[in-house]
Amino acid sequence: MNTSELKQLRDQVLTIATEVGNFIKTERINFTKSSLEEKSAHNLVTAVDKAAEALLFEKLSAVYPEGGFLGEEGNSKEGTSGYQWIVDPIDGTSNFVHDLPLYSTSIALAKGNEVVLGVVNDIAHNTNYHAVKGDGAFANDLSLQVSSSQKVYDSLFVTGFPYEEKQLDEFLAIYKHLIRNSRGVRRLGSAAIDLCYVAHGKFEAFYEIGLNAWDVAAGALIVTEAGGHVSTLSKGNNWLFGKSICASNGHVHDELLTLINQELSN
Ligand code: IPD
Ligand code: CA
Ligand code: CA
Repeated sequence: MNTSELKQLRDQVLTIATEVGNFIKTERINFTKSSLEEKSAHNLVTAVDKAAEALLFEKLSAVYPEGGFLGEEGNSKEGTSGYQWIVDPIDGTSNFVHDLPLYSTSIALAKGNEVVLGVVNDIAHNTNYHAVKGDGAFANDLSLQVSSSQKVYDSLFVTGFPYEEKQLDEFLAIYKHLIRNSRGVRRLGSAAIDLCYVAHGKFEAFYEIGLNAWDVAAGALIVTEAGGHVSTLSKGNNWLFGKSICASNGHVHDELLTLINQELSN
């Protein structure tokens, strides 16, 4: 698909993201914890996640029937075009359940490992973050640029914590180091929003391990289109399916990864 075809599709996806975001917002008003399930320890899913993904499957299939589909809640189909929708209906389900206004719908279109279109609806803030490859990144109509900070010391970071004991210890060591040597580290609870906030220049970088493609696909494109850089924690390119990601303003990338890898290899 060329850029102009992708931009047309992007406009349709923005409408869908807004519609599904409005559905999620309405469902939140009457939400009770009775529809809550645990997929695994502390990994929550609600009837709203499942209904939102069903809506996304139907609406995205209607605007681009040739596309495949990979959704966190199990909807999937093979496409015929080589392109695939990668979707997280609610990124930040724990926040949604506890009525903390930081959860999002993340929609990306990818061909293999290359993401070409990304939309993240920061639902409670009525903001659609979006990007088409080669065409820049936006928050609604505002053009985005990553921050210009050059040093870890002058940076604010955002992360998520792994559940596995050894990795948790290593991540806590990184956290401790950054508390002493930077402006600090936040943990917001929606990887897709974390990435958009890097693109917006609010954070200098986001890092996490154990994430899936649906958590990062759209947000990572938004970071690179805002002028940032994305890699795995070992500086590799397979951040989409590689379950480890660092997304930064570019300037602090090497310094941050060097200190993260010192703690990971200890
Ligand atoms: C989670 C969020 C969270 C991250 C977790 C993800 P979910 O996604 O992105 O920020 O730390 O690793 O699983 O389960 O709310 O869609
Ligand atoms: Ca997620
Ligand atoms: Ca989710």
